[in-house]
Amino acid sequence: MSNDRLKDKIAIVTGAATGIGAATACQFVDAGARVLATDIKDPGQELASKLDAHPGQLLFQHSDVCSESDWVAALKTCTQSLGVPNVLVNNAGMLGSGRPLHEETPGGMLRVFEVNVLGMMLGMRTVIPGMIAAGRGAIVNVSSVWGHSGVANNAAYQTTKGAAIMLSKNAGVTYAPHGIRVNCVLPGYVDTPMSRNVTEAEAKQLLAFTPLGRCAQPEELAPAIVFLASDEASFTAAGTFMVDGGMAAL
Ligand SMILES: NC(=O)c1ccc[n+]([C@@H]2O[C@H](COP(=O)([O-])OP(=O)(O)OC[C@H]3O[C@@H](n4cnc5c(N)ncnc54)[C@H](O)[C@@H]3O)[C@@H](O)[C@H]2O)c1
Repeated sequence: MSNDRLKDKIAIVTGAATGIGAATACQFVDAGARVLATDIKDPGQELASKLDAHPGQLLFQHSDVCSESDWVAALKTCTQSLGVPNVLVNNAGMLGSGRPLHEETPGGMLRVFEVNVLGMMLGMRTVIPGMIAAGRGAIVNVSSVWGHSGVANNAAYQTTKGAAIMLSKNAGVTYAPHGIRVNCVLPGYVDTPMSRNVTEAEAKQLLAFTPLGRCAQPEELAPAIVFLASDEASFTAAGTFMVDGGMAAL
């Protein structure tokens, strides 16, 4: 559905090849935003057809959120081809080993931290100077309901998603005086390539702990991100928003 809710927005969306990031990039374009979608993977089918249909409005660049030089390159592409970004969606993430902490390795823990937390920090650090200069901006960080509520195993993922929530709150409080709204979305169980990596037992448990009784499609997460990026969310800052089918309420 096309509309102009993001008409003046120039956005970078990370982890946009598939899943929630791809749905977000596509809904941003439908809402009138100019978008640089980035990922380490090639675009999946949904994003690829949107790229074909919207040349000049939607671009894709391979970019690793853990690499400072990739962030410099992404900012350059965005600024030169679309304009200075006034929206950032830090969506890229990884699940890691799923192990309980006594079986997790230091290397495994650090790798998940690098992608889920450091990547988010580098993204914000890249765009915030331009947003301060403009006196406005919106950042949406994607954490997880597992960063809020306890779950067995998945020590690295849960820890980093909790850190992502606090990083968002810290940035939200720090940069609100500059007109930059930083908010955090906490998805529940969403049908994406990442969630297809959970074990059958975990999938059953996830459904049992979702009052709506089903997993979401990525297209059901993206509207919350569109809202938080838009001027309709002008009084949100440093907030956390569950889009979890009720999971966190249990
Ligand atoms: N699917 C779920 O049930 C669920 C639940 C809660 C939170 N989330 C979060 O939603 C976000 C999106 O995940 P998704 O479910 O759409 O899965 P997904 O696998 O479709 O998307 C994640 C994307 O991040 C990319 N990525 C990973 N490491 C990267 C890196 N170093 N640099 C750049 N890109 C990188 C992947 O290539 C992938 O395309 C993640 O942050 C995830 O933790 C997902």
